[in-house]
Amino acid sequence: MDWARHWEDRTHGGHASQDEEFLAREAREKLLYLGSGDRLLDFGCGSGDLLVHYAPHFRACVGADFSPTMLDSARKRLSGVANVTLVQADAKSEWHKVPGRFDCITTAGVDQYLSRAEISTFLEAARDHLNPGGRIVIFDTIHPQRHALREVGLGFERAPLWRVAYLAARTRAAMAWHVLNGKAARTIGEPHSPALYRAIAARFGLTVEFVMSAFYDYRYHVILRPAQSGLAGESTA
Ligand SMILES: C[S@@+](CC[C@H](N)C(=O)[O-])C[C@H]1O[C@@H](n2cnc3c(N)ncnc32)[C@H](O)[C@@H]1O
Repeated sequence: MDWARHWEDRTHGGHASQDEEFLAREAREKLLYLGSGDRLLDFGCGSGDLLVHYAPHFRACVGADFSPTMLDSARKRLSGVANVTLVQADAKSEWHKVPGRFDCITTAGVDQYLSRAEISTFLEAARDHLNPGGRIVIFDTIHPQRHALREVGLGFERAPLWRVAYLAARTRAAMAWHVLNGKAARTIGEPHSPALYRAIAARFGLTVEFVMSAFYDYRYHVILRPAQSGLAGESTA
């Protein structure tokens, strides 16, 4: 699937709500894990819906995205925010276009558009661009099992059998239709398991912590730090 094409004319990131109060609350949850510091990189910043809320907590922020239209929206949203630089880049070109090191390297709703190999390459480079004591925070990874339940209507409070059967059939039909039309089976992108992140973390000498998203019950956050920075233990999603 050509995700760059998918995003090339979109103008917002598709949060559960684009209401400003909702976005502010979502950003407040994320700031619990980002903290504050000198430099932050938001990879796949989109229209800047979260970055605008991160900016007051860091001296300098960089937002990177491959979509020109998303960056246009971000430029409008962030006009007048002096400490944010926006850069057009993808996961490969990013590290050439964005020099220096960061206290926080983060993404939100982005890893679903990256293959396992791309996530691995991204995390290795991100580790090498961290300041001492820095962290990488991957927000809103789609949890494979929780999302599968949701796809058949089991992630909701009420799940009558007829609805489960209907959604199971509809989801499979939609996925087959997308594949026949040369698109990814899931237009939301692909889930990635905690096991993938655990394996990558072990390979690159990172500690890993998992937390469920407060706003999306089928998504979780991944917090990674260089092992020597002394994060206590590991929890599972
Ligand atoms: C769901 S939106 C999230 C935007 C923003 N992080 C937020 O939460 O509001 C995903 C963003 O990731 C960007 N993106 C996806 N894959 C990318 C890649 N390989 N390189 C750069 N940007 C990418 C898309 O252009 C889009 O703006």
